[in-house]
Amino acid sequence: MTTVTDREVLRDALGLLRDREQVAERLLESSAKHSFDPDKELDWEAPVEDGKWFWPPELVSLYDTPMWRKMSEDQRMDLARHEAASLASLGIWFEIILMQLLVRHIYDKAVTSQHVRYALTEIADECRHSMMFAKMIQKGGAPSYPVPRFYHNLARILKTVSTTPGSFAATLLGEEILDYMQRLTFPDERVQTLVRGVTRIHVVEEARHVRYAREELRRQMVTAPRWEQHFTRVSCGEAARVFSTCFVNPEVYTNVGLDRREAVAQVKASGHRAEVMQSGAKRLTDFLDDIGVLQGVGRRLWVSSGLLAR
Ligand SMILES: [Fe+2]
Ligand SMILES: [Fe+2]
Repeated sequence: MTTVTDREVLRDALGLLRDREQVAERLLESSAKHSFDPDKELDWEAPVEDGKWFWPPELVSLYDTPMWRKMSEDQRMDLARHEAASLASLGIWFEIILMQLLVRHIYDKAVTSQHVRYALTEIADECRHSMMFAKMIQKGGAPSYPVPRFYHNLARILKTVSTTPGSFAATLLGEEILDYMQRLTFPDERVQTLVRGVTRIHVVEEARHVRYAREELRRQMVTAPRWEQHFTRVSCGEAARVFSTCFVNPEVYTNVGLDRREAVAQVKASGHRAEVMQSGAKRLTDFLDDIGVLQGVGRRLWVSSGLLAR
C-alpha cells in the first residue's frame, strides 16, 4: 500500500523526469538549428595573419606583471600563441573526460528518451570540438600541452568512479571558465580570424551543454542522498583546485624563452590574473552556491583554488 508520503515522492520524481525530458527536447531543437561542422564552416587553408593575436593579451596569464612589461610585443604574442595551444589542449582533455562521463550517465537510461538522445548529441558536438581544437593547435604551430602526468592519472580514476552529481559539477567547471574567455575572444578584432571562428562555434554549442549540466546537477542535488551531496561538494572543490593548477601548462613560459619558475610566481601574485580567473568562475560559483554545492570543506577548496574570493 502506498502512503501519502510515498505518493508525494513518486509525484516529485515524475515531475523531475518530465522536466528533464522537456529540457532535453528544447536543447535538441536548438541543436538542430544551430550546429556547425568546423571542417566546412572555417577556412583552414587561410594563412596565419601577421600582427594578430592567438589569444587576447588581457587573457594571457602574465599580462600586466613586471615580466610582461619587460617582454617585447613579439614575445608577448608568441606567449599568447602558446597559451592558446595550452588551453585548447586542456579543452580536449576535458572533452574526452566529459564524453566518457556522458556515456556512463546514459548507460542505464531509456534509450528512446530525449534526455539520452540529447546526451548523444552533446557527445557528437564534443567529438567535433576536440578535432577542431587539435587542428587549431596544429595551425598555430605551437605544440600540444598535456596536463601533468599525475593529474592525467588522477582524472583517469575520477572519470571512472565519479558519481553523477560529481560528474556534472566537474563538467561545468571545465566548460564555464573557458567559455567566459571564449566569449571575450570571438568578437575581438585583434585576434586571428581562425581563432575567432573556433571560439564562436564553441560558445554557441557550449551554451546548450552548460544548460544540460546545470539542470541535471540542480535536480541531482535535490534527489541525491546526503553522503553523495557531501561527496559532490568535496570532489567539486578538489576539481577546482586541480583545474586552476593545470589551467596553463608552465612549459609555455620555457618555450618562449622565459624563466619558468619566475613566470609561475608572477602569475600567482598577479591581481589582474586573479580577477580574470574569478570573473570567469563567477557565473558558475554563483550557481553552485545557489544549489548548495559551495559549503564547508568544498568551499574552502574553492577558495584555495583561487577561483573564489574569500
Ligand atoms: Fe566542447
Ligand atoms: Fe561541452
